[in-house]
Amino acid sequence: MPTGLRKGLTSYGDAGFSLFLRRAFIKAMGYSEDALDRPIVGVTNTYSDFNPCHGNVPDLIEAAKRGVMLAGGLPMVFPTISIHESFSHPTSMFLRNLMALDTEEMIRAQPMDAVLLIGGCDKTLPAQLMGAASADIPAIVLPTGPMLVGHHKGEVLGACTDCRRMWAKYRAGEIDADEIDQLTDRLAPTKGTCMVMGTASTVACMVEALGMCLPGAASIPATHADRIRAAEASGAAAVKLAASGRTPRQIMTKAAFRNAFAVLQAIGGSTNAVIHFTAVAGRLGIDIDLAEFDRLGLDVPVLVDLKPSGDHYMEHFHWAGGMPKLLKEIAPHIDLATLTVAGGTLADYAAGAEDVPGQTVIRSAADPIAVGGGLAVLAGNLAPGGALLKRSAATARLMQHEGRAVVFDGIEDMTTRLDDPDLDVTADDVLVLRNAGPKGAPGMPEAGYIPIPKKLARAGVKDMVRISDARMSGTAFGTIVLHMSPESADGGPLGLVRNGDRIRLDAEGRRIDLLVSDAELAARRAAWVPPPAHPGSDRGYLRLYIEQVTQAEQGCDFAFCLPARGPQ
Ligand code: FES
Repeated sequence: MPTGLRKGLTSYGDAGFSLFLRRAFIKAMGYSEDALDRPIVGVTNTYSDFNPCHGNVPDLIEAAKRGVMLAGGLPMVFPTISIHESFSHPTSMFLRNLMALDTEEMIRAQPMDAVLLIGGCDKTLPAQLMGAASADIPAIVLPTGPMLVGHHKGEVLGACTDCRRMWAKYRAGEIDADEIDQLTDRLAPTKGTCMVMGTASTVACMVEALGMCLPGAASIPATHADRIRAAEASGAAAVKLAASGRTPRQIMTKAAFRNAFAVLQAIGGSTNAVIHFTAVAGRLGIDIDLAEFDRLGLDVPVLVDLKPSGDHYMEHFHWAGGMPKLLKEIAPHIDLATLTVAGGTLADYAAGAEDVPGQTVIRSAADPIAVGGGLAVLAGNLAPGGALLKRSAATARLMQHEGRAVVFDGIEDMTTRLDDPDLDVTADDVLVLRNAGPKGAPGMPEAGYIPIPKKLARAGVKDMVRISDARMSGTAFGTIVLHMSPESADGGPLGLVRNGDRIRLDAEGRRIDLLVSDAELAARRAAWVPPPAHPGSDRGYLRLYIEQVTQAEQGCDFAFCLPARGPQ
């Protein structure tokens, strides 16, 4: 098996010439023969002026390169796509699979014995893991890390739970335009990823539970010196990983995914992670059984007290012991024998946990934040392919609820009519948003956090049952049913709901149902007309996306990226 510069030669019909040419060109960069003979560690560069969550990437790359060289390897930095949540049109989810393709093919195309994946903003680590899973060379992840908290008028602020809370206050007339402007200086005060238990933090924690990053790497603040040291250590670990030949397929086993999903329940993490890790597992031919995930939630208590479900932020989680401490607390529910990029097993991570006297961020199993599952998987006639409810961020009294449907036919319809003073809506109604799924929007936007209609918000209504085929930000909160599958644009039953229908949410029974007879539903289905094609969907990436994207329970990956049928 060729290594280093000899890997994956460009095809000229003469392997000797290919290597000669490669060496000749790379020497233009000033490398010596000694350097070029070392094991090569590819380091992804996802720095972008559009991506503040990756603002520390240049510093991390420098430290990672130092780590690679101290361990005797040659670091080679290469660019891939970078995706930031608020700089991605139409959505970052639309671009996740493009980044996965880019990452996979650049790993495969260029000669490297291991790859260090540096990412952080919501879709980047999932995309990088998907690519690395398919390329299957030794790979290690370095999250960019969470930003520090913000402060405003004596309050601690977190992006983006408080972005939404403050915007809701502005909509309700509780704060004015000057204050909302001032908040743009304070909500995201440093480089790094959102510092609540949103999607980025959830994904980073699950990556650590999978064994794909070094212990502690999920939670060290982005701007802290320890993050730089973690980058150096990750570079050194990548060289050892290259020597061991341990690949993602050996680390990301079915048991490792089960561990990651147990952590998702224990942290009350983002619903988006279910889609992302289903996609990563799918690349390895591993099915994620949503019913089993739901059962896992009944056993694994929510132990981490972070916003949006709790009170604290990622830096507090880190100083309370971070993932090693959490793994130790949930040890009875996970398999600590799974392998890691550090060379040992997950038991080593848990064994290294620091006991921090008096900390209240990571609770013990005897004193949980909540039991019964942070995330619930729903079935029912409105979601035959499944749906998710983030119980830990929902209102208890709405968990069992029946109400009248108020339907929005898409995001534009919702934006146009939601705040209309004449909208026929009460606090007991169920807001329905459709045509906002993977194909319908397209790109499955984080529009599931349907704002409370202004007239109700001004009357003090804080939460309502809201259902959609969209996603929501991991930083959002409310009694919100998401990822309803199949999506309405693909013929799902959400497309058959009419204004005034009765809808029942039964969180304990894990059901979301439209209380309309089967005969009536069959008649509506026969008359259903699919929404018109998206402008521009006749060519390019949008065409590929619409033709290939799968539904939420399959991870919204491209169908052609899944293996024919891998090992289970
Ligand atoms: Fe990048 Fe929140 S916007 S992690």
